[in-house]
Amino acid sequence: MHTLTLNLLRQTARDDAPALPRTPVQAQNLSKRFGDNTILDNLNLEIRAGEFVALLGRSGSGKTTLLRALAGLDRISSGTLNVPQARAAVFQEPRLMPWKRAWRNVTLGLKIDRPRERALAALEEVGLAHRENAWPATLSGGEAQRVALARALVREPQLLLLDEPFAALDALTRIRMHQLILSLWRQHRPSVLLVTHDVDEAVLLADRVLVLEQGRIAADITITQQRPRSAQAPQFQQVRTQLLQLLGVEIEEFFN
Ligand SMILES: Nc1ncnc2c1ncn2[C@@H]1O[C@H](COP(=O)(O)OP(=O)(O)O)[C@@H](O)[C@H]1O
Ligand SMILES: [Mg+2]
Repeated sequence: MHTLTLNLLRQTARDDAPALPRTPVQAQNLSKRFGDNTILDNLNLEIRAGEFVALLGRSGSGKTTLLRALAGLDRISSGTLNVPQARAAVFQEPRLMPWKRAWRNVTLGLKIDRPRERALAALEEVGLAHRENAWPATLSGGEAQRVALARALVREPQLLLLDEPFAALDALTRIRMHQLILSLWRQHRPSVLLVTHDVDEAVLLADRVLVLEQGRIAADITITQQRPRSAQAPQFQQVRTQLLQLLGVEIEEFFN
């Protein structure tokens, strides 16, 4: 029933906006070099409209490099890259301007009507309307990250890029952030690329998990388990083991 409703909504959205591509993110033979160092090597990637994709890879494998290229923060060395105009990124650290109140951080750099109202609406969505006037220094790590998320939301992104946004948070806050990100994704349906080094986080949240290795997408695994997902389910464990092996982590028999 739920799936049916969703499909109908998607169909409606497409009918209303025929210009919206079904595959808004397309990278073909994308390469990125720093000097002699090739980080992304003829990489191919597609992300469909409304799809939630997680990107795993060892430290230094080029995850941030790829995300920054998709965000338009860095130029690519060669290849083609199609991304939606409307995109927003959230990084591991919230990157708030300390001299601007929370709501002003949300609309920073945007020329929009009724900025305060829009900021407040976005802060409300992340459960922080009551902190609209707070200075960044008075926010907890989780609150600051939610302001960063509100700043992304207010831009109404078709592509939401998340670079290890939960990595610096404590375990409980991280669980709450997982729920928040899923509910915001359901509501707004952007395409999401979540970079993480946490296999469980990837399997818990994403429709599809990619592994970046030697500058390319080395694995592309569709997660079929219904949400909400239990990490105890055999299906979950199976994908988890598979991904850990791809990442070169040995699993002892004990854990299987
Ligand atoms: N601006 C840069 N100049 C030179 N080398 C860089 C730059 N940014 C990243 N690199 C290099 O690219 C590689 C991949 O980095 P990065 O994308 O940050 O990896 P990851 O996010 O997967 O840990 C690393 O070896 C890093 O040193
Ligand atoms: Mg990184």
